[in-house]
Amino acid sequence: MQDKLQQLKSKVLHELKAIKNSDALRDLEVKYLGRKGELTEILKGLKDLANEEKPKIGALANDVKKEIEEVINNAKWEIDNALSDDAAIKEKIDVTLPSGLATHGHLHPLTQVQKELEELFKSLGFFVATGPDLESEWFNFDALNIPASHPARDMQDTFFVDGNSDTNNRWLLRTQTSPVQIRSMLQYGVPLRVIVPGKCFRNEATDARHEHTFHQLEGLMVDKNISLANMKAILEAVAKKLYGESTKIRLRPKFYPFVEPGVNGEVTCFLCRGTGCRVCKQTGWLEIFGAGMVHPDVLRAGGVNPDEYSGFAFGFGLTRLVMLKYGIDDIRLLMSGDKRFLDQF
Ligand code: FA5
Repeated sequence: MQDKLQQLKSKVLHELKAIKNSDALRDLEVKYLGRKGELTEILKGLKDLANEEKPKIGALANDVKKEIEEVINNAKWEIDNALSDDAAIKEKIDVTLPSGLATHGHLHPLTQVQKELEELFKSLGFFVATGPDLESEWFNFDALNIPASHPARDMQDTFFVDGNSDTNNRWLLRTQTSPVQIRSMLQYGVPLRVIVPGKCFRNEATDARHEHTFHQLEGLMVDKNISLANMKAILEAVAKKLYGESTKIRLRPKFYPFVEPGVNGEVTCFLCRGTGCRVCKQTGWLEIFGAGMVHPDVLRAGGVNPDEYSGFAFGFGLTRLVMLKYGIDDIRLLMSGDKRFLDQF
């Protein structure tokens, strides 16, 4: 029995050397360790041994069984790992090659259009200014000739901020970039050509065209003898830059407390070129800005003498310009931070 066990172990080790795949290994395992395997058969014979031989041969048989199980398990591990190496070779992974191109970020579409407009306005003699997002009621409303009774001051439109002890001049998140008209006149004096791109906030119920946080681009030009014709020329240049040379603008009366006269500015639809389509709701025109001649009270609030100077101001909905330029149909996508959306620009 002792010899038989030793011979069996040598046989297993010998046969194992020739085994290269898991099917052959499984066959070998069944051949020796299976229910009717050679080792199992020997172990079944233990019961026929003389009582004094049983402990010694029994222990040897167990050792041989454990050794065989161990070498078979090792062989399994080696075959499995060799297989995964084979798969790697089939995939032709060359670990020495440089990795694929790193993806680079890019400017947000809002920033791209903002920069484009900044360059245009700079070429027309304007400079770029900024103002605070957290504004005072005076700059945002009073100085702009918006009386306390104006609906824009209503809690539904404006985010008022706690903390200012002066109840006549509360803090708020600016609802428009227009307060920077006043700040610029006070800071830089006249003559003045300034644009102000920036964030605005309104307590809106958001939908596809309205956000609580959106961008505007304000403009102000103050000098001697400035007329509505100067304003039209500048705004026409901007519209052509944005939507192409054949673009026309039209100005229609609109009330804004801080300009007189005030206008609503429209451009020929970039999609249908004026014939009417779904983008312009069949009118051929798209509304893109509010503008007008600066109200004398606003010039005064900025420390400018309205008898000597005149000026015009305009405010583009920058977010709106971006939507029209790229055909984006839901404003909420722009500030969503969704990389899949942003990667398209
Ligand atoms: C104003 O805010 C004026 N300050 C514009 C102005 C400046 C007029 C200088 C005259 C002289 P209005 O409320 O219409 O005007 O907003 C201007 C533009 O901002 C709108 O045409 C629109 O494009 C954009 N806008 C307003 N509210 C929202 C909103 N909730 N979400 C996205 N865009 C908005």
